[in-house]
Amino acid sequence: MCGIVGYIGPKQAAPLILEALEKLEYRGYDSSGIAIADGNKLGVVKAKGRLSVLEEMTDCGRALPGCLGIGHTRWATHGEPNDVNAHPHLSQHGEVALVHNGIVENYIELRDFLTEQGYSFMSETDTEIAANLVEHLYRSNREDGPEAAIREALSLISGAFALGIIFADHPDTLYAVRKDSPLIVGVGKGENFIASDVPAILKHTRQVIRLDEYDMAVLTAGSVKIYNRYGEELHKNIEHIQWDADAAEKGGYPHFMLKEIMEQPDVIRSTVRPRVRDGRIDLGLSHISPDDIMACDRIFIVACGSASYVGQVAKHYIERYTRIPVTVELASEFRYSNPIVTDRTIAIVISQSGETIDTLFALREAKSRGAHVLSIVNVVGSTIANESEDVIYTWAGPEIAVATTKAYSAQLSVCYLLALYMGHCRHMVSDSELKDFLNAIEELPGLMRSLLEKSDYIKYLASLHFSCRNIYFIGRNIDHALALEGSLKLKEISYIFSEAYPAGELKHGTISLIEPGSLVVALCTYSPLTEKMISNMREVKARGAVVLALATEGTPGVEETADQVMWIPKTDPFVLPSLAILPLQLFAYYVALLKGCDIDKPRNLAKSVTVE
Ligand code: F6R
Repeated sequence: MCGIVGYIGPKQAAPLILEALEKLEYRGYDSSGIAIADGNKLGVVKAKGRLSVLEEMTDCGRALPGCLGIGHTRWATHGEPNDVNAHPHLSQHGEVALVHNGIVENYIELRDFLTEQGYSFMSETDTEIAANLVEHLYRSNREDGPEAAIREALSLISGAFALGIIFADHPDTLYAVRKDSPLIVGVGKGENFIASDVPAILKHTRQVIRLDEYDMAVLTAGSVKIYNRYGEELHKNIEHIQWDADAAEKGGYPHFMLKEIMEQPDVIRSTVRPRVRDGRIDLGLSHISPDDIMACDRIFIVACGSASYVGQVAKHYIERYTRIPVTVELASEFRYSNPIVTDRTIAIVISQSGETIDTLFALREAKSRGAHVLSIVNVVGSTIANESEDVIYTWAGPEIAVATTKAYSAQLSVCYLLALYMGHCRHMVSDSELKDFLNAIEELPGLMRSLLEKSDYIKYLASLHFSCRNIYFIGRNIDHALALEGSLKLKEISYIFSEAYPAGELKHGTISLIEPGSLVVALCTYSPLTEKMISNMREVKARGAVVLALATEGTPGVEETADQVMWIPKTDPFVLPSLAILPLQLFAYYVALLKGCDIDKPRNLAKSVTVE
């Protein structure tokens, strides 16, 4: 989603900001811009397209003198992606420049108010309204200073926002505020930064303050002050970021996605190991007690996209080991579904970024209705993590490729632990069963590694199928949940039309789409239903489909029926989903590679979806 960077210090701001914005490119954007305070004048340069356009216009920033500035990469919400709608937005009298992530929901009302005050607007954006609102309030009461104007503007704006703001007559101060959109402050030596994400500023500092709801940061080169919405100064913890800039780079792989696929064995180890001690699981839950789990009579899993497909797998596990009914709801639907939630409900919220707005709002909905909220989140200190009663971090490290892989796997492994932990609390998983399952999880990274070493075969399969126009994924039970993810992975990065169906459902309509040459990826890892899957493969083959099966080594009948097979090693069925997903991720990756797609940044997509 949109990226924000701001700088105040002794260096020339523009080149530094442009370089920092590049580190946020992975979030997806359609235009970019920069505003610099030079003396008592604010200069703005912005353009549609890649950052390289802006770099060309400004000689990589060198043409813009000044040591205070803000920059932005925009992903359009209000108004099409063009030069005028790009951020920063300069206020009518040139006194305020502002960058914004999120949405000003009451922008029409504010626009009408500002129009009455003599303002007119050049862009179609809600952000230009925010810039003019801050300027109007500042001009009406200059003696109270910029902070008072920003605070008042906040009380008038409804919606989600992270704002970086500079004032023409305060060329030594950078202002930032947030509500519902992430924003951090980078604390440097004699220089300070704001950014929407850590990689942007890692080159300059590892000392970070995460702003909470309505926090306002006021930065000069030598000081960082944070205030709450009432103007009281806060003393926030400074977090030392452990991972280095290299961790956010490709590490020798051609794409972040491939790097992240290959990292999965290590990710599983670092997610699981610290939670398992002496044959017991310790998830570090401090609010949701074993008694709450005992009393729980309903679980909602809310998430978006791939995270919701993790939820689909988790549903099978949690229901199997706890016998509590689990409903998986897309977060965007949950919020408006008048859900039946009581104080005996547990809401499990799954999110890599911890900032997905639909998921955040679903969390709030569940909470306001009395559910216990437990989140599974990758980004430490993110909003979803902060607002949950308990958080289980996935510790997958920064995920840069837009299409999730390692975060998906980490979420899945947390769900295994959670299902077992809850089952054990409810006396449905015995100590010895727990031990066996934990042994299987312990062996998982080694098996994943050996499977990933055979990626050349998947590349070969991709070479057979990359020119397909439609690809169908079918499976039953857990295999259907995995099929959903396999299909999403493929379509989002290769742009091949793809759908996933429960295999038994084909005959009820979808089979009419099957024609000679259609590719059907058939998942047969769930052994109780293998025979039924073989019948389904036969059905589509009889209509001319090519069948690419995914099965556990030695599964009878698969080789004879399918045209090709992606084999996964035999192991405890409990951990099979973590193995089965790997060939599907690799297949999507190699198909997209052979099609020449922009794998790490697929068109129209953003890594962190912070608008509804
Ligand atoms: C697909 C993908 C998305 C995300 C979804 C939720 O590869 O990455 O479907 O899973 O946008 O994002 P988070 O997990 O950040 O809430």
